[in-house]
Amino acid sequence: MDHRGVPQPDEADPGAGILPTCDRDAADILRAVARMSPLPMVLADPYRPDMPAVFCNAAFTRLTGYAEDEVIGRNLRLLQGPETDDRALDTLRLGIAAQREIQVELWNYRQDGTKFWCSMFVGPVFDGNGRLLFWFGSQLDAGARRELDQAQARAQRMDTLGAMAAGIAHEFNNLMTVVLANAESAGTESLTPRQAERLNRVSWAARTAGRLTQQMLAFAGRQVLQSRLVDLNDVVRGADGLLAQLAPAGVPLDLSLAAVPLPAVIDAAKLEMALINLVRNAADASAPGNPILVQTGPAVLDGAPAVEVAVIDHGTGMPPDVASRATEPFFTTKHPGSGTGLGLSMVSGFAEQSRGAMLVHSEQGRGTTVRLVFPRSDAPPI
Ligand SMILES: Nc1ncnc2c1ncn2[C@@H]1O[C@H](COP(=O)(O)OP(=O)(O)OP(=O)(O)O)[C@@H](O)[C@H]1O
Ligand SMILES: [Mg+2]
Repeated sequence: MDHRGVPQPDEADPGAGILPTCDRDAADILRAVARMSPLPMVLADPYRPDMPAVFCNAAFTRLTGYAEDEVIGRNLRLLQGPETDDRALDTLRLGIAAQREIQVELWNYRQDGTKFWCSMFVGPVFDGNGRLLFWFGSQLDAGARRELDQAQARAQRMDTLGAMAAGIAHEFNNLMTVVLANAESAGTESLTPRQAERLNRVSWAARTAGRLTQQMLAFAGRQVLQSRLVDLNDVVRGADGLLAQLAPAGVPLDLSLAAVPLPAVIDAAKLEMALINLVRNAADASAPGNPILVQTGPAVLDGAPAVEVAVIDHGTGMPPDVASRATEPFFTTKHPGSGTGLGLSMVSGFAEQSRGAMLVHSEQGRGTTVRLVFPRSDAPPI
């Protein structure tokens, strides 16, 4: 006990003084429990300058990478770092000033400098007379849960966007069909060349807008697919000439087709469109001399046999903030007018509507691989 009647931890055993109101046996048992608890635990002394830690358990040292003697005697702000949110710290300070329990989530840093998303509980420990003895803290690595939350929020956003895009695309498509039908049935015979030229532009704009709506429907997974049994190798072979034209001068397009049939039930024309989008992206990212590879092969999807076609480039690759948003509709890093940002979103929409998946792997400065994986059909290809 010090002069204020507050128990002080034993110098030799920092955890020894943590349970002053219990008898010695009970204190020993509880201390042993706290030590072996899988939940990280720490106690801080509010009566010493800068509120140092006086106890931490093994789960805490495992989580943070700090040894016990690096923690005892220091304020727990040692876990904070550049990305620790000031607002969360304000919440903590306010709670401590008011002596009430606080629960916050914030970035904390391990001893090796790596950060982890921490769900932190901090609460005052009172004795039987309501006197504050210690502050108790418990930290949990909530990174996995945070990622799951973010993925769910993103999926929800995509669903909402998809439903909205599909609704607009439908209405828009109907209106464009009317515009196009009228422009084409107006006939150009009785018109001056200038008027005829204008009418042509109306038709062109209506057709382009119609194509855009098709892309939006594809992104939303609501396009009409004419799926049939095909060999993925045949589809790629059939599109080869077209794809090669998309690559700029000095960027060769190589094919590497599996020697075995790759049967899948898909809409071959839509798969061609998807490949055009992927090769165009690869070409935009590639410097001369770096070939683009279109490769087919067997694969596995959700543990079941599958087939895949991959477009591989050795271009710029994507930084993490671009990679995480690349499949969002209307997300583009290209100049206005040269990209709508619908390419990857429609390709992934098509893959999902075909019960497959689009998988993107990109490394900044190294290149990008986009794989389209479809369930393998049991029937032999025709
Ligand atoms: N192979 C790639 N290499 C590097 N970055 C890529 C690659 N593919 C896509 N990206 C990035 O993802 C973004 C979105 O791609 P997406 O195909 O959806 O749209 P876009 O190419 O910008 O426009 P659009 O395809 O509609 O003309 C691109 O702007 C680019 O930043
Ligand atoms: Mg694109």
